[in-house]
Amino acid sequence: MLRKKDLLGLKDLTKEELEHILAHAGDMKEALISRETLDNLKGKCVATLFYENSTRTKNSFETAARMLGARTVSISVANSSVKKGESLIDTGKTLDALMTDVIVIRHSMAGAPALLARNVRSSVINAGDGMNEHPTQSLLDLFTMHEKFGTIKGLKVVMVGDIKHSRVARSNLWALGKLGAETVVVAPYTLIPSGIEELGCEVITDMEEAVAGANVVMGLRIQLERQKVGFFPSLSEYGAEFGITKERLLNSCPDALIMHPGPVNRGVEIESEVVDGENSLIYEQVTNGVAVRMAVMDFLAGGDK
Ligand code: CP
Repeated sequence: MLRKKDLLGLKDLTKEELEHILAHAGDMKEALISRETLDNLKGKCVATLFYENSTRTKNSFETAARMLGARTVSISVANSSVKKGESLIDTGKTLDALMTDVIVIRHSMAGAPALLARNVRSSVINAGDGMNEHPTQSLLDLFTMHEKFGTIKGLKVVMVGDIKHSRVARSNLWALGKLGAETVVVAPYTLIPSGIEELGCEVITDMEEAVAGANVVMGLRIQLERQKVGFFPSLSEYGAEFGITKERLLNSCPDALIMHPGPVNRGVEIESEVVDGENSLIYEQVTNGVAVRMAVMDFLAGGDK
């Protein structure tokens, strides 16, 4: 049972806690698909506080909160008193004073959600902090894999792309390892952070070798906004060596299911035909994100009914 105030990352969750969230997300997905509004968070307030852009995560949390009967408050940082110099902690204390129960935060600085959590009464959920973790993205990835394969244990999951700057990769490596998956990361050496093997993955720099026999190939976005220097000669050269293409998949792992957290750079890290292909789970991931976030918020702020 997840009996914590906050969800800051998957590094600190046990296998049992991960399995418990995934099981509860299954119940939530049934309610979501049948468009049944629940009352688990009736009378509660969920605030989204995003210091970085988002389409999927922010709207998914807000949809999930409303599906559970909560009120929602959306802080647009660009139009808020953050622009007048208000600190993160003071912004959090202001949300507490507005009778918020859950604050969902995305921030460019690793550790910002943990800092906020130490200083507010509300439950804090990390919606992505710098290059550290994106726990609910990983939970929805796990849920999607479990839905398709019936288990996570024994799956070969290959993550391709900008591992260095990816909080999604870190959360997934922590969680997939605990649930018994085999994990491989593949990228140019310049996009592989030193010490990543300590999270239990194999590091490979040849795309064909890495994806051979994969059950899941997960593309990760090339995060040009976080890259201060050139990590590869050009986007077209990156795509030629590491792009997820139909031809590559047919040769090495024709049955592999394709995932990507989004947003996708079509034609850079992944071919458009693969995004829209029959093995793609990319839009199912988005739907599952709502169910998983319903489950997480129910555990943290609801009654776990
Ligand atoms: N996957 C993900 O975090 O997408 P957004 O940046 O659109 O929230």
